[in-house]
Order: sequence, then C-alpha cells, then structure tokens
Amino acid sequence: MALRLGDDAPNFTADTTEGRIDFHQWLGNSWGILFSHPADFTPVCTTELGAVANMKGEFEKRGVKCIAVSVDPLSAHIGWISDINETQRCTMNFPIIADPTRAVATLYDMIHPNADTTFTVRSVFVIGPDRKVKLTLTYPAATGRNFHEILRVIDSLQLTARFKVATPANWENGQDCIITPAVKDAEIPALFPKGSRQVKPYLRYTPQPNR
Ligand code: BEZ
Repeated sequence: MALRLGDDAPNFTADTTEGRIDFHQWLGNSWGILFSHPADFTPVCTTELGAVANMKGEFEKRGVKCIAVSVDPLSAHIGWISDINETQRCTMNFPIIADPTRAVATLYDMIHPNADTTFTVRSVFVIGPDRKVKLTLTYPAATGRNFHEILRVIDSLQLTARFKVATPANWENGQDCIITPAVKDAEIPALFPKGSRQVKPYLRYTPQPNR
C-alpha cells in the first residue's frame, strides 16, 4: 500500500555510492529527503542530481540529509556520477542507492505500473526526525522536479512543526503566516508577541514567528 502522511518511513539496508547503509541509522536525528529516479544515464535525472548537489548547502542549513535511489546497479551509478559532475558543474555529495532488485522502490511504492512497469516514477519523501513521512510528491518521468519548491516546503514543515501556524498559498520563507484555527483569540498575544491581524474570524495572520 502507498505510504501516507504520518506513516513510519520504512527502514531498509542498501548499497549506495557512499557505502552500505541502514536507512534509519543513516538518517539519525536529521530530517531526510529520499527521492527516486527512473534510470541512470538519462537527461532529466542527470540535471536533478546535479541540482541537488549544487543546493546541498541549503538542505544542510535546514538539517536535511539527501539521498537518491535508482533501480540501476552501483557500477552504473559510479559511472554516471562522473557525467553528472561534468555536465552539471557539481561534485556529487550525497549517496545514490543502488536498487537493482527494486526492494526500496517496492517498499516506498515508487513503481507505478500504469506509468511504467519497470522504472520508478519521480517520488519524493520528506521524512521528519521522528522518521515519519511528512510530505510525498510524485512526478512523471518526463517532468523534472523543482528543488526550490522542496526547500520551500521543508521551511513550512519545520516552521509548522514548531509553532501553531500554517503557511498560506505561495508562501515564501519570511512572509506572514496563518494562525491555526485551534488557537483561540485570547491566546494570540502570548503565542504571537510580534502581533496579529484578523481578516475574518477564521483568517488570522502573524509575522513569521522564527524570523
Ligand atoms: C530522464 O531522466 O531524462 C527520463 C527518464 C525516463 C523517461 C524520460 C526521461
């Protein structure tokens, strides 16, 4: 069955380009992003891995570890990394799981047979320090992901885990947040000392609490 929000992120052991890992041990107490690629030596995947390698500092700032998975063997991943480094002007700096038996792809339901019977779709799982699934995204093979959007979502996930706020449509880090409906008006001054504004009784904004 597909993994849903709030589910435990299943553990596995696997060979990666940075050695064999136990996934939960590798995550430790960090946030994590596990994302799949249809196949090695394919153009969109090459750009995606290069993009994440070049953005690794942004993930690190947020305490997020990145790991990719593809159903090709380790030898193919190793050969592909030099192409990624050359064409995307990066140095690969996070592991790619070798999943030739499709064990990880099956565990995380990354093969969608009506899209392709062999290769994974472009799945993204954001996993919290409690090892629960916080976000899932699924893109088709022909559409590369926007990793700036994934960073934006991580900013929202981390913020809303700490404060009683939600983030509105198209929110960007630093912008006003919505006070969650469970917060009573009387609680607002203590919870949100930066102030608040009420547009409707159910639509109340506050400056981003951690800025
Ligand atoms: C790609 O990564 O470029 C790709 C992979 C499978 C199908 C289409 C594109």
